[in-house]
Order: sequence, then C-alpha cells, then structure tokens
Amino acid sequence: MTAEPGPGPADDTISKLVAAFHEEAARGVSSRSDFEALKGRYLGREKGLVPALFARMREIPPADRASYGARANAAKREIEEAIRALGELVARGETEKSERAAAVDVTLPGRRVPAGSLHPVTIVRRRVEEIFLRMGYSIADGPEIENDAHNFEALNFPPEHPARDAQDTLFIDLQAPSPLLLRTHTSPVQIREMKKRGAPIKIISPGRVYRNESVDATHQPVFHQVEALVVDRGISMADLKGTVEAFFEALFGPGTRSRIIPTFFPFVEPGADVHVSCIFCNGAGCRTCKGSGWVELAGAGEVHPRVLEACGIDPEEFSGFAFGLGLDRVAMMLYEFPDLRLLFDGEERFLSQFAPLS
Ligand code: PHE
Repeated sequence: MTAEPGPGPADDTISKLVAAFHEEAARGVSSRSDFEALKGRYLGREKGLVPALFARMREIPPADRASYGARANAAKREIEEAIRALGELVARGETEKSERAAAVDVTLPGRRVPAGSLHPVTIVRRRVEEIFLRMGYSIADGPEIENDAHNFEALNFPPEHPARDAQDTLFIDLQAPSPLLLRTHTSPVQIREMKKRGAPIKIISPGRVYRNESVDATHQPVFHQVEALVVDRGISMADLKGTVEAFFEALFGPGTRSRIIPTFFPFVEPGADVHVSCIFCNGAGCRTCKGSGWVELAGAGEVHPRVLEACGIDPEEFSGFAFGLGLDRVAMMLYEFPDLRLLFDGEERFLSQFAPLS
C-alpha cells in the first residue's frame, strides 16, 4: 500500500501554484481581456486558484495549519502584487495605443477647399469693360425692369411700330402709365444716362436682357449685352468705325477686321450691323461663319437726332454713335463651345473649366 500524499509540511501545492502563475505571467498578456482572464483564474472569488488554497485549510492537519496559512497568505500577496503590476502595464499600453490613434500627423498634406470659378460671361464682360475703360469710357448701369418709355419710346420706336415686334418683349404690367417690361436690350441705359448727364458723354453699359425666345443652341430668353454710347461735338460714322475696329482687335487679337453693313434700328440713323472677320478661319470661311468669313456681332449707328432731343440734347450741336454687342456670342467664340445653353445650365463640370483669358 502506497501512502496517499496528503497535505502536510511537504505539501508543495502552494509553491507549484506560485511557480505556475509566474510562468503564465511571464508569457505576458496581449490585451485587457487576457489580463482579466488571468486575474480571474487566480484571484476569482468563486473559482480562483488562490482562494482555493484557503478552502483546503480543512484538509491540512491541525499541526501544519499555521505554517500552511502563512505560506498561503504570502503566496496570495505575491500573486496579487504581480497582478496589480501587470494591470498597470496593460493600462499604460492602452493609453499609448489610444494616444497614438488620436495623434495628428502635422506633416500630412492639407485638404483642398474647392474654389469657385468665374462664369465665362463674367470673364468676357470684365475683359470688355477693361478695353473700354482703357479707351476712356465709364461704366453705367440701368434697371432690368424697364418701362416702355425708356425701352422703346425715347429710342424712337413709335407706338404700334413693327420694330417693337422684332424684340419679343416680356411685359410685366400693361396697365402702368408706361407699361412695365423686362428690358429687351441695353439701349434704354443710353436714354437714362443722357437724361442724367447730358453731353458730352462716353459710356458703356453691360447687363442682362430678356426676350420671349424659344430656347435652342443660339437663343435664350435671358442673355447679355454691352452698349457703348459716345455723344460729343462732331462725332461721325468714322468715329464709330474706328472705335469698332480698335475694340474688336483688342478683344479678338491683332489682325481682326470689322465691316459695317447698313441696316435699320429706329434709334440710329444711319444704322449698321457690325461684322467681324471669323476668328476660327480668319475670313477663309468655316462652319462658325457659315462659309462667309464674317460673323455678325453687333448693331450700331449714329444716334438718331430724335433720341438726342428726347434726352434734352441739341442735335444741332451734338452727334454721337452707339453700338450693342451680345456677350454670350463672344464667350462662345472666345472659348469655342457650340451651344449657348451651356452658359445657363449651371453645370459645374462645364463652368469649372474656365480660367480668365490672358
Ligand atoms: N439694341 C440693339 C439690339 O439689341 C443693338 C444696337 C445697339 C443697335 C446700339 C444700334 C445701336 O438689337
């Protein structure tokens, strides 16, 4: 019969447990849950290996209990201390990890804030303004909601005159003393400025105009014009021709030619259409100019004496010229895009492509 190795002074359960603990602890814990598992296994109140040492007390012969108890207490303190230290290590590791995650890398490139760009019509308007400012003109502004008196009457469109129909007017209030409408051209600004400032005068007036057009590749109910007006002593068609030539050369480049073809507008006499040599084929004939080599870009003429009179300027003393130009057409030519609707769709992929012309 072999003697059962019962608890006694030679019992090494305690030292084995401590050794096993140190071995496990030396392998380290890689996470908080590993740590909690280790702690639970040794110190857990219900099933922990350390509390189990004390539960064995009953099995220890009374004579050995004091020394066993002392060793068990020492083992408990040792393991508790080691676990506390391990716990600190785990906590420090966690802090470091979260600090690293929250850290800002100041060497990373910044995020770009998307910047808007100028609308092509705005770019062209500014360029036209610059050219005229250099020639000594000043810039005038006028209301987009006009009345018949300024948009037609003072510009020598008699009531019921068929020339009014040519402008497809959008009326706002037909009952008003002078019917309210959306201006069909920038010419009413001529009237407002001449009434206000008299003569001599040298202005341009860029702005939005409205016509009841059906929309297609070359027509929009809203578009842009710039008006030029010069009134002084001795102004003639020669001044108009010289100004138009200088302006279009500045706008489209040296060598651009212009010609003046007689036509009718009630507020000028003689009236003219201004044709500019096609900038794509340089006059040879292409699709843009429909093979003619010329593109019609402006209406012009000598200010009608009746228009000067309507503004309180003496046509015996003063004469002048005016011309009106479509800015949208110019933008289409300078940037070579085929459809006017692109200017009004607000499509970011189209609009973001435009850089100011150098
Ligand atoms: N106002 C005219 C139009 O819109 C253009 C024009 C302006 C013609 C000045 C002559 C003089 O058609």
